[in-house]
Amino acid sequence: MSSLKFDNVTLKFGGITALNNVSFEVKPKTLYAIIGPNGAGKTSIFNCISGIYRPTEGDVSFGDSNIKDLRPDQVAELGIARTFQNIELFENMTVLDNILIGAHRHLNYGPISSLLYTKKTRKSELAARKIAEEIIDFLEIEQFRYSYILSLPYGVQKRVEIGRALALNPEVLLLDEPAAGMNNEETEDIARFIIDIHEEMGKTIILVDHDMNMVMDIAEEVMVLNFGEKLAEGRPEEIVKDSKVIDAYLGVG
Ligand SMILES: Nc1ncnc2c1ncn2[C@@H]1O[C@H](COP(=O)(O)OP(=O)(O)O)[C@@H](O)[C@H]1O
Ligand SMILES: [Mg+2]
Repeated sequence: MSSLKFDNVTLKFGGITALNNVSFEVKPKTLYAIIGPNGAGKTSIFNCISGIYRPTEGDVSFGDSNIKDLRPDQVAELGIARTFQNIELFENMTVLDNILIGAHRHLNYGPISSLLYTKKTRKSELAARKIAEEIIDFLEIEQFRYSYILSLPYGVQKRVEIGRALALNPEVLLLDEPAAGMNNEETEDIARFIIDIHEEMGKTIILVDHDMNMVMDIAEEVMVLNFGEKLAEGRPEEIVKDSKVIDAYLGVG
């Protein structure tokens, strides 16, 4: 398993500095959280990891590979999957089909063999179905298996998006504000699933949120971002006592 590292990453858009010289390391199997107010640069970090943005300066590495210049599909292939702050699912497809897309990509059979529908394809079809069904059970969305995404409550859609990322069987899972827009009960459900994905599946998780509460309960390590800069890093119990963090969050000082 590999560590994910940022070395002095700066990301600029014209005159805006979204990330300013940010460094951190997420060790394998850690549940690492990145928190910070809206506009702090959290999603930009995910976009630099997943090949959507290219850092203006600095390096992003995963194990021995420098992943800074890779395309999103290449990053996914290395074992890094993500969810988006605004859900990105195929809305006119069922839950099962959305998750199957991830599973097929993981099994990775070529377009020609699927066209010919060979024995090998049939076998992967069954394997993909098995992976998808396991994930559906795990996320407790069995009753929505054949529902169209559009028809589902927001909290369930969020779970499906996590399911699609899990179907890729990633080593690292990036979750961008998985509890945004949820009520307390849905937030508790999501927190429980995140803990289970971490503990039972043994995944490395990077969790981004602007709300400290859930994150502080479940993260092992926390980095605080403010205006694109790393303000603090440490265990949750250290972070909540940090005066710089308190000032940034409460707008004092
Ligand atoms: N594609 C882009 N073009 C211009 N500015 C951007 C772009 N993406 C992000 N930014 C800017 O970078 C800063 C950080 O944004 P973002 O990473 O989305 O913050 P967060 O996820 O913490 O709310 C913001 O000022 C935002 O407007
Ligand atoms: Mg964001």
